[in-house]
Amino acid sequence: MRSLYRLFLTVALLLPMFATGISAQDEEGWKASEKTVQELSKPGNTFNYYEAKVPSYILPQLLVTSAGKKVGDMNIWNESRRPEILELFRKNVFGRVPETSFEKSFKVISTDKKALNGAATLKLIDINISSDEKALVIHLTLFTPNKAGKPAPVFLLIDNRGPANTDPSRKVKSEFWPVEEAIARGYGMAVFSNADVDPDNFDGFKNGIHALLDKKPRTGDSWGALAAWGWGASRCLDYLITDKDVAGSKVAVVGHSRGGKAALWAGAEDQRFAMVVSNESGCGGAALARRQYGETIERISTSFPHWFCSNYRSYGNNEDAMPVDMHMLLALTAPRALYVDCAAEDLWGDPRGSYLSLYSAVPAFNLSGTNCTIPENMPPLNKQIIGGKVGFHIRDGGHNMLLSDWNRFMDFADIALK
Ligand code: GCU
Repeated sequence: MRSLYRLFLTVALLLPMFATGISAQDEEGWKASEKTVQELSKPGNTFNYYEAKVPSYILPQLLVTSAGKKVGDMNIWNESRRPEILELFRKNVFGRVPETSFEKSFKVISTDKKALNGAATLKLIDINISSDEKALVIHLTLFTPNKAGKPAPVFLLIDNRGPANTDPSRKVKSEFWPVEEAIARGYGMAVFSNADVDPDNFDGFKNGIHALLDKKPRTGDSWGALAAWGWGASRCLDYLITDKDVAGSKVAVVGHSRGGKAALWAGAEDQRFAMVVSNESGCGGAALARRQYGETIERISTSFPHWFCSNYRSYGNNEDAMPVDMHMLLALTAPRALYVDCAAEDLWGDPRGSYLSLYSAVPAFNLSGTNCTIPENMPPLNKQIIGGKVGFHIRDGGHNMLLSDWNRFMDFADIALK
């Protein structure tokens, strides 16, 4: 019994290491802010992995306006409740995009109509952003299927891993961005690197898009890196809707982990995205903060202070004071399509809390008249569930985005997007 307990404890203590992918990822920002397992495991500094220790909590009401009015249809949702919730997330979680004006232009750097042995057209596009004397370039890669003969739905990935996973030459292939398989199923694949928009480290908001647009002194609701990456996804969408090979009304924004948090926020801020995919987005993404399971606000806002607005920090160890929880972030996608998925070993990202969050967001999706009901209990491993415009699966294995995940995104998109 004792040795069983010890085994459980060892696994629980090691989980943050696997869940945070210390050995699997090598991004600069990651290395700079990641703590060692020893530190994570210090007494008094551990994280909860016991369902029984989840505190009791009451989620803020989704379908009641701040004036106390019940939200009974899509009109009230779109006209009053959705904007209210969006504002609350700007103010308390992700921060606000500055109103600074900027210039934007697109340049198609190269086009290869015979990419992937003729199956796809590959375009490399520079999205040039400038303000005053400063400029930056978002490098967008786009594959579209040739066989379709008509504009194709496209998955746009916010890449937080670097070019080894998203190689346009396809000499290096990765399940993280399975272009060949998507093209075979009639989907286009686009990607840009988050680092083009804002570097993933705490640089005092001096670089990336902040250097161009942050003209005023920072305040508690000034935007952080996640909002900047989401903003970058919107600039890519600005291009995609002009490309004749792309069905502009069928673009899904996809992200893994920190990229998943950014994808959810991109879809919330920009309703032109027809679908949002949150892969293992965890704390600050799909997972309910009030559960305090795995990563917490306290931890994320100290380890990654550049991701959120600084107001968010005040909810560390104070979750009940936050006027939102993450079911409301998921609801901001409604009535468009939303897919959430988790990995069984990624307890750091609280799979159950992510499912409960989705479940609690469903009433907003149901306002559209499409039945989006899903069961209250999380489905078993590797079993996809689709309820109208929402979908979910929990995969066996660890923190990653794999072909098997993408296959399910596409199965869902076949129904919800096509
Ligand atoms: C860390 C961080 C998570 C994040 C993850 C990732 O583990 O704590 O919140 O999701 O990095 O982006 O891979």
